[in-house]
Amino acid sequence: MNVVELEILGEKHIPELQELLMRCSDYLAFQDGEPVKKDAAKDLLISRPDNVTIQDKIVYGIYQGQDHLLIGVVDIIMRFAGPDILSLVLLVIEPTFRGKGLGEVVHKLLEEWAHSNKFSRIRLGVLFDNEKGHRFWKRVGYEETGEIKPYLAHKFRVLEKAI
Ligand SMILES: CC(C)(COP(=O)(O)OP(=O)(O)OC[C@H]1O[C@@H](n2cnc3c(N)ncnc32)[C@H](O)[C@@H]1OP(=O)(O)O)[C@@H](O)C(=O)NCCC(=O)NCCS
Repeated sequence: MNVVELEILGEKHIPELQELLMRCSDYLAFQDGEPVKKDAAKDLLISRPDNVTIQDKIVYGIYQGQDHLLIGVVDIIMRFAGPDILSLVLLVIEPTFRGKGLGEVVHKLLEEWAHSNKFSRIRLGVLFDNEKGHRFWKRVGYEETGEIKPYLAHKFRVLEKAI
């Protein structure tokens, strides 16, 4: 059933978030070039660019179904790339829940959230070699900005969508 809810995560969610990140290690190890660290959840809740306040960062848990299972996570940063731009830093769904349309449902919720909070664009980066991720973002309406940036050992393409 494609019913998901987004819930803001905080310190009390660290144990379940850490378990989720371990289940998403296929993607996270690819992204970071190393195994998921034991304090990855704690880091995810606070990590942000130097000039961004913690008030401009939100980590949402993606919960599914009546069992209220944590099946994914979204990390967003407000007003970093511009006053009306929402930066989507991370969206990851655990492997067994991918390819069922949940990513599209989550994206729709984010878009609605961004729109009602007066953002006019969503901006994100897709790593080279993440073909599935790239296809997903194109399918839900993102376009290349032409910018290519470095991330650790990788490069990523910057994509944006007007909302
Ligand atoms: C990218 C990601 C968030 C997308 O979430 P998702 O739940 O897999 O997305 P969807 O199920 O909506 O779409 C994925 C594919 O499944 C297909 N799909 C959707 N519902 C389907 C269904 N019921 N049956 C079969 N296929 C289906 C979609 O058509 C889509 O195919 P396409 O992208 O090749 O066109 C997820 O795959 C993920 O976490 N990947 C690893 C992390 C990552 O790459 N994040 C993005 C970083 S930029």
